[in-house]
Amino acid sequence: MEISKIQDADIEGKKVLLRIDFNVAVENGRAKETFKIKACQETVKYLLEKKCKIALCSHLGRPEGKPNLEFSLEQIKADVENILGVKINFIGDCAGDKVKNSLEDLNSGEVLLLENVRFYEGEESNDANFAKKLAENFEIFINDAFSVCHRDQASVTGVAKILPSYAGFWLQKEIENLDRLKNNPEKPAVAVIGGAKIETKLPVIQTFEKIYDYVLVGGKIANEAVDQKISFSEKVILPIDYIDDRLDIGPDTISKFSQIIKGVKTIIWNGPMGKFEEEKYAVGTQKIFEAIISGSAYTLVGGGETLEILEKNNAMDKISFVSTGGGAMLEYLSGSTMPGIEVLKK
Ligand code: 3PG
Repeated sequence: MEISKIQDADIEGKKVLLRIDFNVAVENGRAKETFKIKACQETVKYLLEKKCKIALCSHLGRPEGKPNLEFSLEQIKADVENILGVKINFIGDCAGDKVKNSLEDLNSGEVLLLENVRFYEGEESNDANFAKKLAENFEIFINDAFSVCHRDQASVTGVAKILPSYAGFWLQKEIENLDRLKNNPEKPAVAVIGGAKIETKLPVIQTFEKIYDYVLVGGKIANEAVDQKISFSEKVILPIDYIDDRLDIGPDTISKFSQIIKGVKTIIWNGPMGKFEEEKYAVGTQKIFEAIISGSAYTLVGGGETLEILEKNNAMDKISFVSTGGGAMLEYLSGSTMPGIEVLKK
């Protein structure tokens, strides 16, 4: 698939709206995972070298179209500054005159961080007028947020239809790596899928069922699949025992899943196996993580909570490719059309 790339853009000195994904878990005003922030480093550096005026645009959580300081991106300003190594100017809006004026006042080497784009209803509904407002202060749009490319939203597709638009370096890297595994993984291949959001993950499990040798399902989605009496082929393996009220997978499931994982050549992992944020329910996730990194299989891991587990274990470099995408990675691998990538096609 040929998409427009940042390195092909006439970009010198331009005003650039850069869509990144800083949708990270925040605790006590700090980002709990840093990988998604690091992902845009190369693109930001390149744009600064090209003397561009950059505004970073992201969502954080699901504030339902209303301003809500619990979801303000200002909370992670210091983390963004440390990780990217540039001075960040935060603005309490993502469109309008505040953005226009701050862009004009921006000193060389500084970068703007816009407020949560989901504080506006028009973002998720992909309202054309809102997209116009987002785009109006800029000359170029760069998308470096692979993990939101499955969303048909104003800051992902809306602005891309208005401004000359290109894929950033990270987005290109995600596509290259995921393409290697899509449809043709080295066999035997297993997908380990956990966490929440059954509505996103069910179609993905059903597609992986066709392509992969095993799909191991744990976490909240396994409970929901059981409760909803969803039937799968024998390739999909659900937990056979649990801890407490299905808050973690039990020892027999850990042993069964680990056994399967040990014998494969390709592993894709997204989502925890239980309520891992509570230590006593983190055992299943930890054991499955250990099984995944213990062999010599090609490993691809993605998704916010899954990245948190890797970071906590200092294990980023033990994985063949770490994707910033959770739902986006799964959808891409299962062959779904990604609106955010489609719109960048030449
Ligand atoms: C993610 O964390 O997977 C992305 O940022 C998308 O977030 P969303 O599921 O709230 O659209």
